Amino acid sequence: MAYTTRDQWHEHYAEGGGWRPVRPEELDPLAARLGPGAGRRLLDVGCGDGGYAASLAGLGFTVLGVDYAASAIEAARARPSAGVELGFQVFDIEQDDPATLPDDTFDVITVRLVLAFLDQPRFLGTARRLLAPTGQLVVTTPLAERLPAERQDIGLTADDLAVLQTGWSRVETYDVDTLRVITLSDTPTDQRTVSDLSGKLIAMPAPNTSPGPAMDELDSARAEHHGRPEPLLTFPEGDDPDGPDLPDVEEPEEV
Ligand SMILES: C[S@@+](CC[C@H](N)C(=O)[O-])C[C@H]1O[C@@H](n2cnc3c(N)ncnc32)[C@H](O)[C@@H]1O
Repeated sequence: MAYTTRDQWHEHYAEGGGWRPVRPEELDPLAARLGPGAGRRLLDVGCGDGGYAASLAGLGFTVLGVDYAASAIEAARARPSAGVELGFQVFDIEQDDPATLPDDTFDVITVRLVLAFLDQPRFLGTARRLLAPTGQLVVTTPLAERLPAERQDIGLTADDLAVLQTGWSRVETYDVDTLRVITLSDTPTDQRTVSDLSGKLIAMPAPNTSPGPAMDELDSARAEHHGRPEPLLTFPEGDDPDGPDLPDVEEPEEV
């Protein structure tokens, strides 16, 4: 069965399903990259049952998790949240008006195991609008090339990653088995860096008065890219050996 509709996701959570739990090897390097969370607002897009959002709230961020599946938000709200700033809202990141969110600017936006199911240019445009100028976008995604052929559509391809990383002045990545975690942000022009697809940071020459031709090209590619629709990807079913704490759940192995 492919997960391409809100109803299918809704049914998954209504039956008690979840996804790959967040482990220290995924969270700890991210915590180091994001820095202290206290006093900073974070939006987790496609939050599912809220496990990732809760982990981020545990880092001190004030977290809003949004998901378009009502049963996901119901499960997320049932999580204990004493001592952390954590809220959840039913929200379709592709269709709903961002003005209906309680905040219109976030210091961090996270999207974990979700981007392959979205219209990526549209999502990036929305994320750009919601991010503070110094904000960070964190994309956590399976890498298509590391998945079996029948599951590659739940991950991003090298081409997807190249588009995603275009136009940001700072790109950092790390891998956790089949997952890649990508942090994207803009910094002052004299600190601009980009990375190659292996995740290695490449320093850009510091321009004197302008971003320079290389960054101009990236900026115009990004501007061109926003708003261009792409087809929704599909989601094959499978079992998840990573989820022993989520018994009796049919889950994609890599998600
Ligand atoms: C594989 S799950 C990942 C859930 C969670 N991020 C995690 O890591 O456990 C993908 C989630 O994206 C949500 N989703 C898909 N399209 C969405 C959209 N347009 N707006 C909001 N949520 C969406 C689904 O409902 C589902 O909960």
